[in-house]
Amino acid sequence: MTVRIKNRIALITGAASGIGKATADLFEAEGAVVIRTDIADGNHHKLDVSKASDWCSFIDSIEHEHIDIVVNNAGISPHDNIENLDMATWDTIRGVVLDGVMLGCKHTLPLLKKSTYGAIVNVSSVAGIVGASEYTSYGAAKAGVRNVTKSVALHCARMHYNVRCNSVHPGSIDTPILDADKAKYGVEKVVQVRAKTIPMGRLGRAREVADAILFLASDDASFITGTELVVDGGFTAR
Ligand SMILES: NC(=O)c1ccc[n+]([C@@H]2O[C@H](COP(=O)([O-])OP(=O)(O)OC[C@H]3O[C@@H](n4cnc5c(N)ncnc54)[C@H](O)[C@@H]3O)[C@@H](O)[C@H]2O)c1
Repeated sequence: MTVRIKNRIALITGAASGIGKATADLFEAEGAVVIRTDIADGNHHKLDVSKASDWCSFIDSIEHEHIDIVVNNAGISPHDNIENLDMATWDTIRGVVLDGVMLGCKHTLPLLKKSTYGAIVNVSSVAGIVGASEYTSYGAAKAGVRNVTKSVALHCARMHYNVRCNSVHPGSIDTPILDADKAKYGVEKVVQVRAKTIPMGRLGRAREVADAILFLASDDASFITGTELVVDGGFTAR
């Protein structure tokens, strides 16, 4: 095993479930010190990523003098299209998905700047690259994440900070984020309908996204910043 993130201090948002949990578990297995945060109750630090006040008090409470890795992963993905979209939903999704990532970058940068190996990985989506008629608010927010990532990367490079910033773009991944759809349409239907849209013929696993996040967070990606890594079984290749 290469020593990619051993002893590094990593903060992960949305770590109670799905991709965030898989990433936290993988990072710990790789020897990192993981700070797990989520809005949900449980065995992790409570942090609503959409609230600047939460970020301020959370950062104040951190006892480490620096952070090496930040994974801005927390997210929600309600459906809407341009006709049924309402402003309340638009604002809620933007608040968690886009503001949450921007606030995560902004509030952790002072601690990341003190690291020799600073790395931010923002979890966007293929919906931030291509359109999806039933993900209008979500896709717009995820496209924002893609661009904020590049702005942060360029700022850090210009300022000669040791902080890289990249985005990961999952396609359909079988995590609890699909639970509402599964409850509404049935598990088989949701899995089969989605799998048919994917060239590799199946949904992805949370661990497969975690592996991509680990790569970008580690020294294996030491000259990679401002880029986007798609993990979608070929969905956007066509
Ligand atoms: N699963 C997919 O198909 C898929 C595809 C593309 C992108 N993504 C993205 O991956 C990320 C993780 O999603 P997942 O599939 O693991 O879903 P998930 O529902 O399993 O996990 C999301 C986590 O984020 C937390 N969260 C929600 N709102 C929050 C808030 N305001 N503050 C802090 N935590 C909050 C939830 O409590 C949950 O633990 C999200 O950003 C999602 O948009 C997922």
